[in-house]
Amino acid sequence: MKILLTGALLALISFTAKAQEMKIEQMANDNALIRIAPNAKSKYILLPIEEKAPEAAMKVICNNMQQRTLYIRLALTKVDYYVPFELSEYQGKNLVLQTHLNIDRSNGRGAKSEICWENIKLSDTFDTANKEKFRPEFHHTPVYAWMNDPNGMFYLNGEWHLYYQYGPYGSMWNNMTWGHSVTRDLIHWEHRPSAIFPDAHGSIFSGSCVVDHENTAGFGKDAVIALYTSAGDVQSQSLAYSLDGGNTFTKYDGNPILTSDIPDFRDPNMFWNEDIKAWNLILACGQEMRLYSSPNLIDWTEESRFGQGLGNHEGVWECPDLMKLPVEGTNESKWVLICNINPGGPAGGSATQYFVGDFDGHKFTVDNTSRYLNGNALWQDYGMDHYATVSFSNAPEGRHTMIAWMSNWLYANDVPTMQFRSANSITREPYLYKVGNELFMGSRPSPEYDNSSLDKVLKVKGNTTVTLSNDEGEEFIITYDQKAMTLTCDRSKSGITNFNQHFASKPVVAPVHKKLTQLRVFVDNSSVEVFGNNGEVCLTNLVFPKSKFNHISVK
Ligand code: FRU
Repeated sequence: MKILLTGALLALISFTAKAQEMKIEQMANDNALIRIAPNAKSKYILLPIEEKAPEAAMKVICNNMQQRTLYIRLALTKVDYYVPFELSEYQGKNLVLQTHLNIDRSNGRGAKSEICWENIKLSDTFDTANKEKFRPEFHHTPVYAWMNDPNGMFYLNGEWHLYYQYGPYGSMWNNMTWGHSVTRDLIHWEHRPSAIFPDAHGSIFSGSCVVDHENTAGFGKDAVIALYTSAGDVQSQSLAYSLDGGNTFTKYDGNPILTSDIPDFRDPNMFWNEDIKAWNLILACGQEMRLYSSPNLIDWTEESRFGQGLGNHEGVWECPDLMKLPVEGTNESKWVLICNINPGGPAGGSATQYFVGDFDGHKFTVDNTSRYLNGNALWQDYGMDHYATVSFSNAPEGRHTMIAWMSNWLYANDVPTMQFRSANSITREPYLYKVGNELFMGSRPSPEYDNSSLDKVLKVKGNTTVTLSNDEGEEFIITYDQKAMTLTCDRSKSGITNFNQHFASKPVVAPVHKKLTQLRVFVDNSSVEVFGNNGEVCLTNLVFPKSKFNHISVK
């Protein structure tokens, strides 16, 4: 009894203390002030989120200065989940969150009655336990909240660093920040604190990192240099550097370093080009790519533009990459330009197209122009959920290792998860293979997955149907048609599909360029990645089955 009473008393004291740390004042026109006392000891404010609520704008004001604005779906009718806002950097200061709810008041309900005000709370803990059945077992995801494109990936001292488009204040897109994770084996991921945060130039869109071994930029030998898009009223490119191997970044004082008068100007990808002993940069600009060079990563000279009249132009070109790849079975190499596009993908929505050609450090020219005329394109993966693919910089042994966001802008915000939203693909190693005189890019699962028992490898002889299914009778069907030379995936009966009309509207079909002798399949709790001949043809698709696919049948 005594223990119980003491417990209750402690809880009451802590509740009262917390109540004194935070005060909410309602103001005119749907505005409210959340005031946090300078002596507040709590680690977090937990913000109640309702996914269907409109975005409220929350100004973060510290000692009278506005630091930034968060866009946040504060709960109006029910709390779906909480997201934390960290308080550590505000201790001893006056923090005010001036919040404007974006509400149609025609229903006569008063601002005070919104349930976010009763539910907002201070806490010293935030529970990130993995409770959702669709959370993958071996694919990278954020610990909680929204993720899209992989960004700024590089390898250094045994660690593969992955940054990503992170929206920390809810499981729908916004407030873009570079989240950060690290792996040593490309299977197990360790989560690190976010690395680059929005500022007066805008939120932090996609970009790349390089390791500046020779200190060309002047920030230090082996400094990690990040170039990203500052997305405010306009898009421009900004630089940041890290002197602790990529954990924390300092922004360059002279940002932005590259501006333009076109609205879609983003996703800078830079790399050292040994052929010209200088840095190159490829940048997506509307529906073309611009190529630049630089001696120091700060001053960039435009060299050329690529893309007019070539490949698919049904959407905006985004997230480029450019790399020299070996042609298998020869001593040759060729350059491949990666161009993610949204929409316009072969199965609808987002996808990764590529162009094979030559690059002399100044200009990229395609090999066989006719292949890319009249909207024709080559695709790295023909599934619906493979986007924003780019490669790791400074990878060991001259490797090219790529990773893709496993979703599609057609429905990314609607997929049936909530505590987190989106995962990345397994990593893949691109290469070129020849069929007659044509070159195609294959994407082989990284060697780290060999003998990992994460995959199923199946021998193929002629027409083949592989069915993954569960005890509820849900199924995912993979069909190889040898005559038609196609590999098809059908997820129409794979489980939950009705959250968006585009999700399972039709089977997705990939052309097969060389007869298939093998299928390799990676199945996780909410994805199926299919590799024909270990990467010559790839299809990546999300699935949301009621229970895991635990049967496989091959016909
Ligand atoms: C691609 C993309 C990028 C942009 C980022 C914003 O998915 O639209 O072009 O930098 O997402 O989150």
